[in-house]
Amino acid sequence: MSIDSLTALIRTIPDFPKPGIQFRDVTTLLADGAGFAELVERLASVARPLDPDLIVGIEARGFILGAALAAALGKGFVPVRKAGKLPGRTVGIDYVLEYGTDRLELHEGQVPPDTRVILVDDLIATGGTALAAAQLLREQGASVLMALFAVDLPDLGGKALLEADGVAAQALIA
Ligand code: PRP
Ligand code: HPA
Repeated sequence: MSIDSLTALIRTIPDFPKPGIQFRDVTTLLADGAGFAELVERLASVARPLDPDLIVGIEARGFILGAALAAALGKGFVPVRKAGKLPGRTVGIDYVLEYGTDRLELHEGQVPPDTRVILVDDLIATGGTALAAAQLLREQGASVLMALFAVDLPDLGGKALLEADGVAAQALIA
């Protein structure tokens, strides 16, 4: 399946969650068996040559793609969650949003020092979420081989933000 066919499976919903936002909705792609398999295979083709130890996915849609990618590669999957969701001891990072702050957490010890990680999410917009996750992983002593996304919103500059911090970033669909 071509990238154009894959892109066509992503629906755009106007004015969600607020007026003026054109929301790229990947659930329509996930619901298509051939499309989902193709997406995971394309992510795996990018990730496999880097030979990561672990795949880390960002809540919530990064869990879907990250877990599928990890299984395709035969690697472990670790979730980065929003504050207060993980039951064990956590390490976390606070980061600034347009209005206010948010916090991402990881189970302590699940990303040991020197682990080679690929960070996965469905979409990069401003890059703030992925940058915070990458910083949290680095604080654990991990090396972030790359941040990998299904979709980029290039006008928002997220990939450039990550790359300015030394995190290689790639998206399949722009
Ligand atoms: C979306 C998306 C990314 C993030 C991208 O998640 O799945 O995680 O926003 O935005 P950024 O690049 O500007 O940081 P959202 O916060 O909507 O959470 P959800 O996956 O739990 O719905
Ligand atoms: N789609 C999905 N998630 C998002 C978007 C979008 O267009 N913008 C910011 N997060």
